[in-house]
Amino acid sequence: MKKIGVLTSGGDAPGMNAAVRAVVRKAIYHDLKVSGIYGGYAGLIKGNIEELGLGSVGDIIHRGGTILLSARCEEFKKKEGQLKGIEQLKKAGIEGLVVIGGDGSYRGAKALTEHGFPCVGVPGTIDNDICGTQFTIGFDTALKTVIEAIDKIRDTATSHERTFVIEVMGRDAGDIALWAGLAGGAETVLVPEENYDMNEICDRLRKGHERGKKHSIIVVAEGAASGVELGKQIRELTNFDTKVSVLGHMQRGGSPTAFDRVLASRLGARAVELIIEGKGGRAVGIENNQIIDHEIADILGGAHTLDTNLLRLSKELSI
Ligand code: F6P
Repeated sequence: MKKIGVLTSGGDAPGMNAAVRAVVRKAIYHDLKVSGIYGGYAGLIKGNIEELGLGSVGDIIHRGGTILLSARCEEFKKKEGQLKGIEQLKKAGIEGLVVIGGDGSYRGAKALTEHGFPCVGVPGTIDNDICGTQFTIGFDTALKTVIEAIDKIRDTATSHERTFVIEVMGRDAGDIALWAGLAGGAETVLVPEENYDMNEICDRLRKGHERGKKHSIIVVAEGAASGVELGKQIRELTNFDTKVSVLGHMQRGGSPTAFDRVLASRLGARAVELIIEGKGGRAVGIENNQIIDHEIADILGGAHTLDTNLLRLSKELSI
């Protein structure tokens, strides 16, 4: 093996740059050349490929976003698009590919491997919703952003004695809502993995009010309910002064935390080792602080599960 490639795909996540840096430097450390593919799988199809040196990844470990740019690509879901991608990789002399991203990115990596081109997946998404790893790159930074927002909203909620609904990201997974809700002391956390009862939410608010509690924070994952809708219903059912904050894409930006930088460095470096060892079709992850790897097919076949103990704890502590 003489040259490998690296790309970032899907929703960007803070720490992706640290992972790209690790891939590039680890490859060069092992006397391999490295090319960056710009714009995810869409860029791969177009052949947006450039060789990266040690200096190309200097001064990026602390930066959010991804210097390699990212995209979601419909064309790459089809065999034709995947074969075009392989053609571009071969034209650039690339023999193995590290794919940093979420589930969709893993599906692409699995398909390329099945067509005979070895790929290794690195979990990069703020959602923390990939099987085979306890944490994904970007989750910790997104949590920090959300908690900062909750703390600030709490200040004004207290001053004005208001109820706040804070909508966070997480289309299919409630990890951001759960962890941020627990860390931010939210009274109620709504996640896509569990049904909720509007009357129960309102009863809790009323009981709190009767106890002298003048403000409340409800954290809702976008996949559980629309924050705006929820706020409207709470206002109508309780008559409490209720405001809504939708945090949106700010959760995807910002300088990665130390945890995400270290995680990205470890995972990126291990991915290069797997490519060198000829183990295409694998995805790296972290479990009990050990870097591990699994078949991408197994990861895609499994379902991400929310930590139910944490959900129970969050309920017990917010009585
Ligand atoms: O996959 C990460 C994620 O941030 C989800 O939580 C969110 O629903 C989605 O991306 C938004 O994607 P886009 O930026 O393409 O609208």
